[in-house]
Amino acid sequence: MNNIGLSILEISHRSKDFEPVLQNTKALVKELLGVPDNYSILFLQGGASTQFAMVPMNLLHKKAAYVDSGVWANKALKEAKLFGEVNVIASSKDKNYNYVPKNYTIPTDCDYLHITSNNTIYGTQMKNFPDSPIPVVCDMSSDIFSRPVDVSKFDLIYAGAQKNMGPAGVTLVIIKNDILKEVQRVVPTMLKYATHIEGDSMYNTPPVYSIYVCMATLEWLKSIGGVPAIEENKSGESGFVLWRSDTNPLFTAPARRKTDRI
Ligand SMILES: Cc1ncc(COP(=O)(O)O)c(C=O)c1O
Repeated sequence: MNNIGLSILEISHRSKDFEPVLQNTKALVKELLGVPDNYSILFLQGGASTQFAMVPMNLLHKKAAYVDSGVWANKALKEAKLFGEVNVIASSKDKNYNYVPKNYTIPTDCDYLHITSNNTIYGTQMKNFPDSPIPVVCDMSSDIFSRPVDVSKFDLIYAGAQKNMGPAGVTLVIIKNDILKEVQRVVPTMLKYATHIEGDSMYNTPPVYSIYVCMATLEWLKSIGGVPAIEENKSGESGFVLWRSDTNPLFTAPARRKTDRI
């Protein structure tokens, strides 16, 4: 890379050649999603499944509200139950998750509301996000970058990279800086958002190759017109494929056949 005769896997993650990769990837996320200045953009490890635990560990003080809209939402709420009281305010489990629950009341006595924007496996997608009186945490693993979202409506967004951004190994977290309050429980250093905000995703060795491929994918996304361009081509007519196409309703079968990259 950078004509130094070494690949990104052979250089230090603290070297002057890697540092711009992390910063560029961050800048692309910020630009493409319109992330406001009062949010941190983090690249973590452990997949979205680790976020199922990190969210309650850092944000659940007494009680949290969850919408049970699919297998992943259900896994998230089960994990939260390990750390406090969970109020399942709506569920589509009765019909094998074939619809997205609507018209629920969001309790004001909960620390946050957890939703899943796209229910992988069932192919159901939340079209409108709730106006919530409490902080909103959203698992966007399978539709991030597929449609414009107003990031300011969310307090924490997380997404495993491997569907729409790059290879497995990195998880994107977008977190509003002021939502973290002192929690009573002991949280291991690596599982504290504060650690990674302070360390700018470099507290420990970041997954350099995964981040590098995310940067390349997002550069490409920018070059074709960004998120609105992808949204316009959702029908699959143009054959756009962001990354993995097997689980994303955005990517229809004809599109997969034309341009699938893996
Ligand atoms: C919506 C959603 N959340 C969470 C996950 C789990 O992600 P990971 O494998 O990165 O832990 C998936 C994986 O398919 C998913 O689709």
